[in-house]
Amino acid sequence: MSSSPSTTLSDSAKIPISLGRQFRRHLPSYGAGLVLLAAYQAAQYWFDTRLMRAFDGAIAGDVAQAGLLGGLLILVAVAAFGIRVLSRMTVFNAGRRAEYELRRALLFRLQLLGPAFYGRMSTGEIMSRMTSDLQQVRALLGFGVLNVINTLFALISALSVTLSISVKLTLASLASLPLLMLVTRAFSSRIYTRNRANQDAIGQLSSEVQSSIAGVRVVRSFSLEKAEMARFQEKNQRYLEKSLALARLRGSFGPIMQAITAIGVVIVFWYGGHLILVKELTPGGFLAFYRALARLTWPLIALGFLVALVQRGRASYARLAEVFDAVPGIGDGPLPAPETTRGELEVRDLSFSYDEQPVLKGVSFRLPEGGSLAVVGKTGAGKSTLAVLLPRLQPGPRGSIFLDGTDVCDLPLAHVRSVIGYAQQDAFLFSTTVGRNIGYCLEDPDGADAHEIVRRAAEEAQVLREIEELPDGFDTVVGERGVQLSGGQKQRVALARALVSKPRILVLDDPLSAVDGRTEKAILEAIDRQLKQRSVILITHRVSAAARCDQVVVLDEGRVVQSGTHEELLEQPGLYSAFAEEQRIEGELARLGSEDGSDLVAGSAAQ
Ligand SMILES: Nc1ncnc2c1ncn2[C@@H]1O[C@H](COP(=O)(O)OP(=O)(O)OP(=O)(O)O)[C@@H](O)[C@H]1O
Ligand SMILES: [Mg+2]
Repeated sequence: MSSSPSTTLSDSAKIPISLGRQFRRHLPSYGAGLVLLAAYQAAQYWFDTRLMRAFDGAIAGDVAQAGLLGGLLILVAVAAFGIRVLSRMTVFNAGRRAEYELRRALLFRLQLLGPAFYGRMSTGEIMSRMTSDLQQVRALLGFGVLNVINTLFALISALSVTLSISVKLTLASLASLPLLMLVTRAFSSRIYTRNRANQDAIGQLSSEVQSSIAGVRVVRSFSLEKAEMARFQEKNQRYLEKSLALARLRGSFGPIMQAITAIGVVIVFWYGGHLILVKELTPGGFLAFYRALARLTWPLIALGFLVALVQRGRASYARLAEVFDAVPGIGDGPLPAPETTRGELEVRDLSFSYDEQPVLKGVSFRLPEGGSLAVVGKTGAGKSTLAVLLPRLQPGPRGSIFLDGTDVCDLPLAHVRSVIGYAQQDAFLFSTTVGRNIGYCLEDPDGADAHEIVRRAAEEAQVLREIEELPDGFDTVVGERGVQLSGGQKQRVALARALVSKPRILVLDDPLSAVDGRTEKAILEAIDRQLKQRSVILITHRVSAAARCDQVVVLDEGRVVQSGTHEELLEQPGLYSAFAEEQRIEGELARLGSEDGSDLVAGSAAQ
C-alpha cells in the first residue's frame, strides 16, 4: 500500500481547490466548448438568414433556389445538432472532471484532518458535502459555464438576424428585457439563502440517519425505535419544509420568466404584422425574425436559472470550503525521515488536556531499543490517551515525545506512524473480509505472499482457529465495523493487523480486555515472542501481563505514581501491589470455583 497511494496523495495535494483555479485548470475544455458554441450559433445565423431568402424566393416563384436552399438548410441543421452535442459533452465533462478532482482533494483533506475536526463535523455532514454539494459545484462548472457562453453567442447571433431585418421590431420585442433582468435579480438572493438552508437540512438529516443506523443495536436494546423515529421525523419534516420552500421559489421562477418572454412574442406578432401590412417587412423576414427571437427565449431563461445556479454552486462551495479551510492540527515536521530507526522512545514531562480537562500530568518514562514497558492503571487513568499521543494520532505538545532522540513533532507524520504501530483498545474493522482486515497495510492484501503473512499474524494473535471455522475462512466478510465477530475476536484481528505492519515499536492498548483465560495465556505467549523482536508498550490492567515487561509504570489520574520492575513494584506499598493482591484473590476464587464445579467451568470453557 505504501508507494502508490502516496503518489496519489501527493497528486491530490496539488489539486487547486478554489473555484477560480479549478475554472482556469479546465480552460482548454472551456475554450474548445467556446469555439463549438460559436460555430453552433453561427450555423443558426446562417439558417435564419437563408430561411428568409428561401421563403421569400418561394413566394416570388423562384422554386429552384428555394429547393436548393431547403436542402442546404437540412444539412446545416444536422451539422448544428452534431456541434451542439459535442459542445455540451466538452463543457459538461469539464464540470465532471472538476467534481472528480475536488472530491479527491476533499478526501485527501479529510485524511489530514485530526480529531478536533471530526469532533466538530459529523459523518453525515461530511457525506452530504461529498455528494450533493459537490454536484452543485459540478453544475456550476458544467451547465453554468455552458450557458454563460451559449447565452452570449445566442444574443449576438439572434440580434444580428433581427437587427438586419428590422431595427424597430427588434427594439419593440426587447422591451420586456429589463423586466426579465429585474425579476431574475429579485429571485437570485432568495434562492441562495433558501438553498443554503436546504443543504444544511439535508446534512442534518443524513447525520441523524447515519448515527441511528450505526447505533441500531443500542436503539433496539433500549426499545427506543419510536424516539429515534420521532427525532428522524423532526429532521425529515424540516428538510421537507426547506425543500418545499426552495421548490416553490424555483417553481414560480420558470413560469414568470416564460410569461415575461410571452409579452415579447405578443409584441412581435402585433407590431410585426403591422410592418408586413405596410410592406416594411417580407413574410420570410417575419418568419426568420420570429425564429431568431424564439432561439433567444431559452438562453434568456437559462440566464435566469444561471443566477440561481451560481448562487447554489457558491453556497455549496462555501460548505466544501469548511473542509478545505479546516486546520489539520497534526502535520509533518520539518526534518526528513531518518535512514534507520532503532526504536527507542522517550516521554518527557508530557501533559495533555482535552478541552481544558487535564488527562495527563507530567508523564515521563523511557523505553530503550528492544525494551518493553507496561502501562498499568485504573479505568480513566489516561492510558489510551497516552497511547494515541505516541504515534501522533492525537496532536500532543512539542518537546515531550522523542523517537530515537528526535521530537516526533519534527518528523514526517507517516514515518512516526510507520515506526510506532498501534493496536487500538476498541478495535475497528472495515466491512470487508477478515483477510483484508488483517493485511490492511500490505500493498496487495489479496496476493499469494500476503496470504501467508496474514495467516502467520492470525496464528500469532491466537485467532487463526476461529477464522478457519468461519463460513469462508479468511474470505468471510465481517460486516460493517466487524459486527459478525465477537469483541474478543475483533480485538485479536486488530492485534494481527498491527503485527503484519512489523513496526519497530508496538503499542498494544489493553489486548486482553475481551478474552477468556485460555486465550489470554496464548496471547501473552505471543506478546513474549513480540518482546524479543521489537520495542513494546503494553497497556494493561492485568498484573500477570505487566510482569512480562522489563519495566512497569503505573498511571493514576494522569500521573505516573509508580515505576520500576514488576518485582520492585510488588515490594512497594501502592496501587500496583494492591492490583496484584486483588487479581491474586480473583484468581484464587476462580480456582476454588473450578474445583467445586469443574463440570460447569469445563462446559463454559468449551463454548
Ligand atoms: N476524545 C476525548 N475527548 C475528551 N475527553 C476524553 C477523550 N478521550 C478520553 N477522554 C477522557 O480522558 C480521560 C482518560 O481516558 P482514557 O481513554 O485515556 O482512559 P484509559 O486509562 O484508557 O481508560 P480505560 O482503562 O477505561 O480504557 C477520561 O476521563 C476520558 O473521559
Ligand atoms: Mg483505554
